[in-house]
Amino acid sequence: MTTDSRARILTGDTPTGRLHLGHWVGSLERRVALQDQYDCYFLLANMHAFTTRFDKPQDIRADTIEIVKDWLAAGIDPDRSTIVLQTEVPAIAELTWFFAMLLSFNDVMGNPTLVHELETKGLKDTYSFGFPMYTVGQCADILAFRPTFVPVGEDQAPHIEMCRKAARKFNQLYCNVPNRTEDDDYPARGGVFPIPKALIGRVGRLPGIDGKQKMSKSLGNAIFLSDSEKDVQKKLNRVQNPTRNEQGVPDLATGALFTFVDAFITDPAHNADLRDRYQRGVIMDGHVKQEVAAAVQALLAPMRERRAALEGPAGDDRALAIIKDGVKRANATAEETLHLAKKAMSLDFGRRTLA
Ligand code: TRP
Repeated sequence: MTTDSRARILTGDTPTGRLHLGHWVGSLERRVALQDQYDCYFLLANMHAFTTRFDKPQDIRADTIEIVKDWLAAGIDPDRSTIVLQTEVPAIAELTWFFAMLLSFNDVMGNPTLVHELETKGLKDTYSFGFPMYTVGQCADILAFRPTFVPVGEDQAPHIEMCRKAARKFNQLYCNVPNRTEDDDYPARGGVFPIPKALIGRVGRLPGIDGKQKMSKSLGNAIFLSDSEKDVQKKLNRVQNPTRNEQGVPDLATGALFTFVDAFITDPAHNADLRDRYQRGVIMDGHVKQEVAAAVQALLAPMRERRAALEGPAGDDRALAIIKDGVKRANATAEETLHLAKKAMSLDFGRRTLA
């Protein structure tokens, strides 16, 4: 646990429903691979789910359990990695308050991802006071574990930037780290927090099958990791094709099809050959889709199998047991961080222990 000397990773998902291929190429794939080398923490951001669904606590609970199943199916190994249930790690909520003082109102309200969400989710004049808070909360999610890396999709980059800002400021203000310190040097100079780096996924932004927006459950354009073989095939058939000019020559940069090719046909020779034959008109959209489908099905087949073993009440029990075990391990690390942070802030009024 805390004796693990490997560098740490923290990342997470908001339980809003089942995970899809966008999550896989954006971050999940990387997480699975990083488990060997790093001390990994994977956070279930269930508190954040309340920012928009505070009226649906039971749905949030069900989605939280579903994500654990998706993670296990995808290859996350709870014996090697720690699963963190946000609402059972009090240090996160406490650190959120401290970081809220170190970031300006404009830092938060100008965060491009937040601005985009307020627009696209139709929240413009109705969002709660708590909604923008999640961005500060995310700084605490991350820094509570003092990780070196945060593997995320491209859309999360502004949040990681905010987190880095909060970490620098804390270290400068409360740990006497000089202002011009290089990011990598903060811990060596006495800072409580490392300045964590984002690891952006292999495919920054996977479009939905409509080719218009990014893949998202709420936009109805997603292929879920737990979709049946038949559903995956049906959805892939609908992936938007490239447009063609008057001579019938396709523009591969249009539509969503070739983003899917790049995302899932990763062998460079195979990928190049497909593009070449398509451009020359030797093969058409349908053929390309068949090849993408074969690759996606091969990726999802073992996930489907692992997931099948987690269906029903026994699967729920397994997920709940993993959450419970993770909470213990997560709090060991997060409480240590909180202790160090409070000490730096002259808030050392006696160290508490969680039961
Ligand atoms: N905001 C992230 C998302 O919606 C989820 C998240 C919450 C997260 N806390 C985090 C991701 C900390 C990385 C690190 O995808």
